[in-house]
Amino acid sequence: MSARPAAVRSAPLDVARVRADFPILATQVHGHPLVYLDSAASAQRPWAVIRAVDDYETHAHANVHRGVHALSQAATAAFEGARERVRRFINAASVREVIFTRGTTEGINLVAQAYARPRFRPGDEILISALEHHANIVPWQMVCEQTGCTLKVAPINRRGELEYEEYLRLLSPRTRLVGIAHVSNALGTVLPLARLIEAAHAHGAVVLVDGAQAIPHAQVDVRALQADFYTFSAHKVYGPTGIGVLYGREALLEAMPPWQGGGDMILTVSFEKTTFNELPYKFEAGTPNISGAVGLAAALDYVEGLGLEAIAAHEAQLLRLATAELAALPGIELIGTAAHKAAVLSFTLQGVHAHDLGTILDAEGVAVRTGHHCAMPVMTFFGVPATARASFACYNSESDVAALLAALKRAREVFG
Ligand SMILES: Cc1ncc(COP(=O)(O)O)c(C=O)c1O
Repeated sequence: MSARPAAVRSAPLDVARVRADFPILATQVHGHPLVYLDSAASAQRPWAVIRAVDDYETHAHANVHRGVHALSQAATAAFEGARERVRRFINAASVREVIFTRGTTEGINLVAQAYARPRFRPGDEILISALEHHANIVPWQMVCEQTGCTLKVAPINRRGELEYEEYLRLLSPRTRLVGIAHVSNALGTVLPLARLIEAAHAHGAVVLVDGAQAIPHAQVDVRALQADFYTFSAHKVYGPTGIGVLYGREALLEAMPPWQGGGDMILTVSFEKTTFNELPYKFEAGTPNISGAVGLAAALDYVEGLGLEAIAAHEAQLLRLATAELAALPGIELIGTAAHKAAVLSFTLQGVHAHDLGTILDAEGVAVRTGHHCAMPVMTFFGVPATARASFACYNSESDVAALLAALKRAREVFG
């Protein structure tokens, strides 16, 4: 993955110890130990995150930025400390480039409404890929409606890889923005971001990267990637829901108008004229998700403690094992067989709807996601209504893969 090598080469994961960090993994489901293979939808939280949020709520909560009293200052320090933690994690140049959002979806909508909408005109083009999550499709369709600009889609091949030559062909001086996933949530494909960004920049387009599925698996360096915008959600990287990050290059953010008005994003307000706050507060109207930011910071500490390299190597091993085992099962079709993949295995079982399959697996305690994975165009491309998707995280083990396999064999018996 296009990523910064971890500063320290990390030791292999001790999965038993990692699992002990996640209390929910002790849950029984339908009388079976939980086998959680749905981390691409939302990862579970380690004690470190649960306790950091609990500690904040118990000892430090007040509203941020506006108070002189001790608790407000403690909350502000925790919140702004979390911003600095994110800055270091993604290697942004400044905390002014780190905007807290509700998640990836809001990050993309912010760029769509505050960057694209005021600038784009009929004749301008936005280029995305055919493997995007709806969150990286619909906001651009809305901008096209609003401005008269045009959405272009770079195709994928049957392995689920972006057709690079087609992508290059679709880039032109009309391309104002490229919106691209770092890792596909439905297929697991890792995109060759450095090449894609370089080509987009050569045509003068800015690039927004949807990093929702990359952030738990690689140490992302937004400056090395030369991303203009990079967005992700905390809950995919072992943090809380309802909080995420939009990174934007300072010069771009500086030139953008605010997208929501309210408290915190202003310097002065009168009925005649309002002046806006500096970055990043200009884009953070209203009381933010303070405990969420604290939890996110704890989550980033946690993954760096394990080592991103070690996590990625462990997940790659599980993905290899699961891919080989499932490919050998009669009736299973793997959807998404890109040469470069991360932590996601989508598949169908012949003659069985994915939801029925998911229900059988659930009865065995195995949690996988079934459906279109908010990527309906991907399902259409592969000619399936839905897939089952197993996704791997630092706490999964080879016995989870074995449990998946056993449950799939059981499903094949049930459906004859
Ligand atoms: C690739 C991708 N983009 C965007 C999103 C949306 O993330 P959120 O719902 O946290 O805003 C997801 C969530 O599954 C995703 O996988």
